[in-house]
Amino acid sequence: MDSVHFSRLKDSFLSKLLITNARLVNEGQVRDVDVLIDGDRIGRIESGLSLPRGAELVDAAGKYLLPGMIDDQVHFREPGMTHKGDLETESAAAAAGGITSFMDMPNVNPQTTTRDALRDKYAVAANRCTANYGFYLGATNGNIEEVKALEVGEACGVKAFMGASTGDMLVDDPEVLDSLFEHSPIMVVTHCEHSPTIWDNERRARERFGEDVPLSEHPRIRSAEACLMSSSMAVDLARRHDALLHILHLTTAIEMPLFSSAHRSEKRITAEVCVHHLWFDETRYEELGTRIKCNPAIKSAEDRKALLAALNEGRIDIIATDHAPHTVQEKSATYFKAPAGLPLVQHAMLTLFDLVAQGEISVELLVDRVSHAPSDLFGVKDRGYVREGWFADLVIVDPAAPYKVSESNLLCKCQWSPFEGHEFSASIDTTIINGEVVYGDGVLTGAIAGRRLEFERAR
Ligand code: DOR
Repeated sequence: MDSVHFSRLKDSFLSKLLITNARLVNEGQVRDVDVLIDGDRIGRIESGLSLPRGAELVDAAGKYLLPGMIDDQVHFREPGMTHKGDLETESAAAAAGGITSFMDMPNVNPQTTTRDALRDKYAVAANRCTANYGFYLGATNGNIEEVKALEVGEACGVKAFMGASTGDMLVDDPEVLDSLFEHSPIMVVTHCEHSPTIWDNERRARERFGEDVPLSEHPRIRSAEACLMSSSMAVDLARRHDALLHILHLTTAIEMPLFSSAHRSEKRITAEVCVHHLWFDETRYEELGTRIKCNPAIKSAEDRKALLAALNEGRIDIIATDHAPHTVQEKSATYFKAPAGLPLVQHAMLTLFDLVAQGEISVELLVDRVSHAPSDLFGVKDRGYVREGWFADLVIVDPAAPYKVSESNLLCKCQWSPFEGHEFSASIDTTIINGEVVYGDGVLTGAIAGRRLEFERAR
């Protein structure tokens, strides 16, 4: 039987879709099964399912079937910075990359630092996102009452920049931080870099190099010590108040002992790594320059190794992207002027499949860290696992079909990628969101399948 031709499905809602011969990777196992999608949910998971009348067929022989990635850290730049990216363009690129849900950061304009701003952002997102969406409330030195008033489900978490980065959102008042960890009704997620240490390092770099600091200095300016100082402070605060804390985008070996290797169900303090910190190390600054300037900085080869080890030990719970697009023009500046951040959503899963092919991580661990763990830690309702009755957010990955990144296949609005010219060993074959095929045969179908995520975890 022919597999479904995706262009026919454009704009049409699938009532039933049968995926046959898939190598399902789910809950620590790889097994050959068929999966029947019924409307927006997974109907049955079983071997030898027959094609129901009127159902479409996808033959996934030789391919992996996974729950879609739930990316807990993206910057899609809407509202206010939409020349870099917007919810439509970036969510479509994410879906093409196998990301079926995303959680967007508050450093936009206006900043998402009030419950009203959150409501406005959800209204702007409605019916425009290819993938499912949730938004963070941003903490500031002056909005603790907004944080206290938050209800579970209104935001995926409360984001605190405990280190200054893109946008003016540093939270450094010790009393405010104390109150935040004491009162936040949901998980606090933090960017940890100690800004005074960084400012001091910047001053010394200026003295030595002037304005044109070589990019290779970035990991010494945004230093490992600055990371450790800030993440230690966050861990202390969380312990003191028994708060739920998730530290975003960790980059250094010296921070790893802060985190337990117990299963996430036993932890209130969890850790994250991003794909670019697992992929690049400081030897790449010479070639890629400001393209890989990001905060926290990409650090040494030893740090990268330590992150992979911590991921395998369970010290690091989640893999995310920190997708942070800036235009080529903005990036074409000297060290201090070039903004930090890089576009990643379209290629994140492919980088992880390369790490699988290199033997650095297993495919079961990959799925655990990109889908199951964010589902559990953020309390995402009915997503992140392939289970009967749960939403049909699925990705089919072809491990034997290489994918070369070139200017002509970039989908993010900024139209550049740090991976240009790289050939990944695997490709995204199909992405299904809420039962709808949103990407297949190498093209987006145009289906706007994304819905608002529901979050059920209180502190
Ligand atoms: O590199 C980064 N870029 N790190 C951040 O924390 C913010 C992000 C951005 O918004 O550009």
